[in-house]
Amino acid sequence: MALYSEKVMDHFLHPRNVGVIEDANAIGEVGNAKCGDIMKMYLKIENDIIRDVKFETFGCGSAIASSSMATEMIKGKPVSEAMKLTNQAVTEALDGLPAHKIHCSVLAEEAIQSALEDYRKRQA
Ligand code: FES
Repeated sequence: MALYSEKVMDHFLHPRNVGVIEDANAIGEVGNAKCGDIMKMYLKIENDIIRDVKFETFGCGSAIASSSMATEMIKGKPVSEAMKLTNQAVTEALDGLPAHKIHCSVLAEEAIQSALEDYRKRQA
C-alpha cells in the first residue's frame, strides 16, 4: 500500500490557495518546534464569511497537503464553521495520513485557529 493517498499527493503536488493576501484582515502563523516547519494563513473575511484564504507553508509534503485541503474546506464558509475545523476532518478529507504525519495536519488546524483569533482581536 502506498504511504500517501492520491489526495495527499494531489494536494502536495498541486496545492490550492498558495500565496499571500495583501489586504488580509486575519493572519495566523504557527510552527512545530520539533520539525521546525512553519505555516502562515491569510484570511479575507467579510460579514463573517471567509471570502478568500491563502497560505504559505515552509514544511513537509503532508503539511503542504494539509494546508491546501484545510483552505479548501473553509473557503466561503462562515467564521463559526471554520472555528470547528479539526485536524481529524482535514486528515479524513485527505483520505488519511501516516500516523507519524498526523502532527502536520494539526499545524493546519492551529494556523486557521490562530488567524481566527487574530480576526477576533482586530474586531474587539
Ligand atoms: Fe513538520 Fe510535517 S514534518 S509539519
